[in-house]
Amino acid sequence: MEMMPVKIVLLGPPGAGKGTQAKSISNRYSIPHISTGDIFRKNISEETPLGIEAKTYIDNGQLVPDEVTINMVKDRLTWEDCKNGYLLDGFPRTVAQAEALQEFLAGRNESLDTALCIEVPSDFILERMTGRRVCLSCGASYHVKFNPPAVDGVCDLCGDNIIQRKDDVEETVKERLDVYERQTQPLIDFYKGKNLLSTVDGTKAINEVFEGICEILGSVN
Ligand code: AP5
Ligand code: MG
Ligand code: ZN
Repeated sequence: MEMMPVKIVLLGPPGAGKGTQAKSISNRYSIPHISTGDIFRKNISEETPLGIEAKTYIDNGQLVPDEVTINMVKDRLTWEDCKNGYLLDGFPRTVAQAEALQEFLAGRNESLDTALCIEVPSDFILERMTGRRVCLSCGASYHVKFNPPAVDGVCDLCGDNIIQRKDDVEETVKERLDVYERQTQPLIDFYKGKNLLSTVDGTKAINEVFEGICEILGSVN
């Protein structure tokens, strides 16, 4: 088999479809899907110290402080399952996080294959977010209209109940979009400057976006 890129960062606004596409990419390339949002939500539901710290930020649509997030991801990247690569979804989200990741990789003589941005204009976002349902057990994302589960209220992948995220209400979505523009959008230039940026049109149907992604991943390595 030809060499496939294995270290991927997924960029894009809230609701772009990062989590949705990440599940398929992770399957296709057999690499772990590491979503900082999913890790935080799991910790919140288990009421761990990390979850308790992260909860107020997340519920208000703000970013969890860099130090907490960076240490959490660095730890995760040392797990055995990251040996052959990984897909980072929702990290990095600030320039400080992106720099910390570069430093971490450089220290291990590794590098990213691509930072893939799923582009979706903000007028698509609200409908995607307010109709979203998620599985807290496995992180799968659904949509009441665009991607409903086979059985109402039940995750196709693991059979657990699916729920609405607390930060998916209109007010908080607007705040998250604002935070994205101010703190995360600069990463597009950051990765462009390192010749690592690739982009895909995220407004198409879920399977078409995935095809676009596979084309890119087949060509960047
Ligand atoms: P996180 O969980 O990462 O949320 P996010 O970035 O806001 O992104 P979303 O998960 O909302 O969107 P997505 O792109 O994954 O979309 P999805 O595939 O679900 O972060 C949550 C919070 O945690 C942050 O606000 C912050 O507080 C904290 N946090 C996380 N990481 C952090 C970090 N690094 N630093 C600091 N704080 C951090 O799709 C959305 C909906 O659209 C679904 O319903 C889906 O079914 C539907 N859909 C997807 N694709 C399509 C399509 N092509 N057509 C139609 N519908 C579609
Ligand atoms: Mg997500
Ligand atoms: Zn599930």
